[in-house]
Amino acid sequence: MSPEQPPASVDLPATHTAPVVITGATSGLGLATARAMAKQGIPLILAVRNMAKGQEVAAALLRSGVRVAVRRLDLANLATVKSFTDGLIEDGVIPRAIICNAGVQTFDRLQRSADQFELTMATNVLGHVALLDPLLSHMAPGSRVITLGSETHRGGLRAFGFPGALLDLQTGVHRHGLRGRRVLGRSWYPGREF
Ligand SMILES: NC(=O)c1ccc[n+]([C@@H]2O[C@H](COP(=O)([O-])OP(=O)(O)OC[C@H]3O[C@@H](n4cnc5c(N)ncnc54)[C@H](OP(=O)(O)O)[C@@H]3O)[C@@H](O)[C@H]2O)c1
Repeated sequence: MSPEQPPASVDLPATHTAPVVITGATSGLGLATARAMAKQGIPLILAVRNMAKGQEVAAALLRSGVRVAVRRLDLANLATVKSFTDGLIEDGVIPRAIICNAGVQTFDRLQRSADQFELTMATNVLGHVALLDPLLSHMAPGSRVITLGSETHRGGLRAFGFPGALLDLQTGVHRHGLRGRRVLGRSWYPGREF
């Protein structure tokens, strides 16, 4: 679809009751984001690979009275990504924002995803693309996609033959996916905002 074409059809309006999906909400920045949003009363879907950890985080967040659901999403396993997106669409749960936060960096030894892609590429890029792709056309105008990247590539780091700009690619791919839609995209490198 070219940027000039009308945006994809919108099935449900974004309302203040629609949830925000956060990938990797079980630790670090994802957890901090979930806590900050829960404090503001924003309904959340914690998209996590470890359900026990996710339930533990949700139990703590629920104490603030906010609506929190935990759904399984292993970005390094494309079948679970499809189950996650199918589940949301079937349940009529259309997020008002998706925060693509989960990420790994595997520089010490080559690791592969369930689908045999290099693990950093699979988790940070392919998994998130597979997550966004089926959901974007359902999201209402004004919905948001927020991507966390990294400045790592600036040091010229190379991981297993992929250019160090891997995480920039993540950002670029997401921007491309947003073209022609009325969903707003923001990319954020911790410590720097674009
Ligand atoms: N912290 C920094 O200074 C910094 C700097 C630059 C960029 N970033 C970027 O910011 C984001 C968050 O960083 P962070 O430091 O908060 O990372 P973190 O503490 O290591 O947390 C990463 C999160 O991603 C989840 N995750 C990993 N693999 C996954 C998979 N296959 N499927 C689903 N979830 C998965 C982890 O789940 P588990 O709990 O199950 O392990 C965890 O919740 C990352 O994208 C990172 O590249 C961070």
